Amino acid sequence: ASQDVASQDLAGRKVVVSAGGTREYLDPVRFLGNRSSGLQGYALARAAASRGAHVTLVSANVSLPDPAGASVVRVETTAQLREAVVAATATADAVVMAAAPADFRPTTVSDDKIKKAEDGSAPPIELAQNPDILAEISRERAREGAVIVGFAAETGDATGSVLELGRAKLARKGCNLLVVNDVSGGAVFGSLDNEAVILGADGAVVEVPRGSKTALAHVIWDEVARRFAE
Ligand code: CTP
Ligand code: CA
Repeated sequence: ASQDVASQDLAGRKVVVSAGGTREYLDPVRFLGNRSSGLQGYALARAAASRGAHVTLVSANVSLPDPAGASVVRVETTAQLREAVVAATATADAVVMAAAPADFRPTTVSDDKIKKAEDGSAPPIELAQNPDILAEISRERAREGAVIVGFAAETGDATGSVLELGRAKLARKGCNLLVVNDVSGGAVFGSLDNEAVILGADGAVVEVPRGSKTALAHVIWDEVARRFAE
């Protein structure tokens, strides 16, 4: 029933979805970026609109058609993403951070194109850490009862398994739900399929079997809608 387009369980709800990957400029023509395709965020926006929500989609560097019924705000950098998400969150019932904000930005952006040195040397790039948007909106939750959802792509490492790292990240961010992808196999970026575990701050563990990003999107909205009802 979760994919029944006739279900209007998000009718009247205002939701914000971020999608894509941010770019951090070095100069007018070069940037640091990442491989996020925006497919999962766009699937979330389409799914929410089909269930009756008012959707604001904050889209960073995505080349996909606008989802029907969503208002799309285009951004490039993490600072712009933050500004757009924080503004839209003020009146939102739910926020899903599916975007991949760049963690770092060059400390300075050159006004002019950086030229190669005659001596063959390469310029160092000094980086500063970007603000954590998910942690900020979770901390300063604008509306009582708003449901905040984060994503995490993890491989697991010496410090913990994918799920242990997911639990720790959920606690660190302070959001209600964290959608954890195991990317140790490699193929999530740009793929049409996704497989995930949704962890709740309330202790919930929802395993979502491999399937389309649209199917995962509907399970995420099911979990959000359940928390609206409570
Ligand atoms: N996120 C965010 N702002 C950032 C970085 C990440 O809002 N500056 C959000 C992402 O949109 C995602 C969640 O936080 O929903 C987790 O992203 P992730 O990159 O896994 O978290 P980080 O805190 O950046 O941790 P890591 O060092 O593992 O990259
Ligand atoms: Ca990160």
